[in-house]
Amino acid sequence: MTIQFQKDLVNINDLSNEHIEYLFKVADKMKATIENKEKGVLCEGKILATLFYEPSTRTRFSFESAMHRLGGSVIGFSSTEGTSVSKGETLADTIRTIANYVDIIAIRHPNEGSARVASLYSKVPVINAGDGGHQHPTQTLLDLYSIQLRKHQLKGLNVLLSGDLRFGRTTHSLSIALARFGANLFFASPPGLEMPDYIIHTLKEEYNLTPGIANDIREYIHVSDVIYMTRVQRERLGEMEYLQYRGSYVLTNELLKSAKPDAMILHPLPRVDEISKEVDDDPRALYFEQAYNGVPMRMALIATLLGVEK
Ligand code: CP
Repeated sequence: MTIQFQKDLVNINDLSNEHIEYLFKVADKMKATIENKEKGVLCEGKILATLFYEPSTRTRFSFESAMHRLGGSVIGFSSTEGTSVSKGETLADTIRTIANYVDIIAIRHPNEGSARVASLYSKVPVINAGDGGHQHPTQTLLDLYSIQLRKHQLKGLNVLLSGDLRFGRTTHSLSIALARFGANLFFASPPGLEMPDYIIHTLKEEYNLTPGIANDIREYIHVSDVIYMTRVQRERLGEMEYLQYRGSYVLTNELLKSAKPDAMILHPLPRVDEISKEVDDDPRALYFEQAYNGVPMRMALIATLLGVEK
């Protein structure tokens, strides 16, 4: 390893731009090992714990796939049922216990700040796999990597983040990272689901970036190099509020007529109804390729935090 990383990845700002560019290079190597069907050995004898207090398909499976592809093993849970959390065990005590059994932990939890708490009680590296409506830094890494692979740059790109920006944790960490790399940001969300003020404030005060803000994707779709859609975060809204927003924005082939011919359409997934299924056949629809990139990027991150990447 040529540059020093912090023990944990909790917040995207735990990584500098240099760290992220380094991870792009390692992910390229990991991608090649997957595509060449090479047997991974870097993490032989190492164990990853995936502690998922909230549902997940991509993040948990791609972390587990990544560790298996590195030659390591995985233990963990996909819900707290069947664990001592259901008997009232605290997060701190669970982490202090699990950290004795494994070499690295990936945790998803409904409470904002939970991954930071976990990192403070863990003697092994902790990776935030999503903490409530706060951040999802490994999603940000694979989002940045997906854009870099196609566009070969981040600086100067026009990136439109659309949908539930209030609770869409992927957009919080992504907007900070994109600002750091010099991208231009545009936010489109229904009234009530706007990007939190603290993010807008941080973008302005720390990165001198004033994002374009609209309630309708039409306002910026024609100038966007990347169109990043997100679903309404039902699990963080009351049912009445969810029903109010459900279906209130949908990306369709008709809307995409005004998009750039080389725009990238991304989505962290799962998709509900905010991207019409007809869009899947558009060559600009890259959200499944994006999800695939989660494996080499998480391989890169695990190997790097464990200090076994050469
Ligand atoms: N993108 C993402 O976090 O998806 P999952 O909820 O399926 O892990």
